[in-house]
Amino acid sequence: HRDLTGIAGLQPHEITFLLDEAEHWIALNRGGASKHDGRLAGLTQINAFFENSTRTLLSFEIAGKRLGADVVNMHAATSSTKKGETLIDTAVTLNAMRADVIVIRHDASGAVQLIADKVDCPVLNAGDGQHEHPTQGLLDALTIRRRRGSIAGQVVAICGDVLHSRVARSNILALTALGADVRVVGPPTLLPPAIERMNVTRHTDFDAGLAGADVVMMLRLQRERMAGGFVPSPREYHALYGLTPERLKRAKPDALVMHPGPMNRGVEIASSVADDLNRSAITEQVEMGVAVRMACLDVLTRGRRGIEGWA
Ligand code: CP
Repeated sequence: HRDLTGIAGLQPHEITFLLDEAEHWIALNRGGASKHDGRLAGLTQINAFFENSTRTLLSFEIAGKRLGADVVNMHAATSSTKKGETLIDTAVTLNAMRADVIVIRHDASGAVQLIADKVDCPVLNAGDGQHEHPTQGLLDALTIRRRRGSIAGQVVAICGDVLHSRVARSNILALTALGADVRVVGPPTLLPPAIERMNVTRHTDFDAGLAGADVVMMLRLQRERMAGGFVPSPREYHALYGLTPERLKRAKPDALVMHPGPMNRGVEIASSVADDLNRSAITEQVEMGVAVRMACLDVLTRGRRGIEGWA
């Protein structure tokens, strides 16, 4: 079987294939009373979340249910990991229950790969530490493709706490693979060293980084991942790197505003920008998340259903 542990493992045509597959599900999801397809009937999907989530957990659950899978959620707070069970023992336990697909979120980078190596079914990464969040990268790419008409040639400014962001990493990989011109913009302390090696340009001046951008993607200031390091004050951060209506004027007049959520309103983004429906694609990103996760669950379980998987 094949896993989805990161965008890094995908060829550009495979990314495009998953986006095209996701397009099919948007109409079904908007279809009113009946949103069921049923192709995963009889399969068991376990969502094992060792870190908090609203969007990713719910959309994976909704996606699995719309496809007809039996969906079970394991929350770390109420699981035996709290009694000291190791991650590998947990993986072996899930495997013994004969899961057909496992979706994992964990606060340690590499934890998803560790579990994927121990189980017999496809594993999907729902975010691991500071490493990757591949379905977020895909849903953001789909949102940009639909709203801007294409990804190739779009100037995308990914702004804020890039250092701690798995969302940024997966987006950089997906968007550069599909030909976007990606900039990372943020304070020097929150940009990873040698980020230019990922084919992006680096800006520490927010206004310069926004100039002429087609897409402005704001990131959450991840204070929970800054233990022991420098933690900027929210007020100071907003003054220097918060997206306000004034700042947004630096980008193209029709630039799209994105944020993966959860947002810190008044910190990395002003409420008036987040709520401007002409500019903000934030709720559309959430909608695309369900379609992308349906596509990933469908494609990754095709082998188990005896049909051809990837294009
Ligand atoms: N964007 C995202 O991963 O949100 P959650 O943490 O709520 O899943």
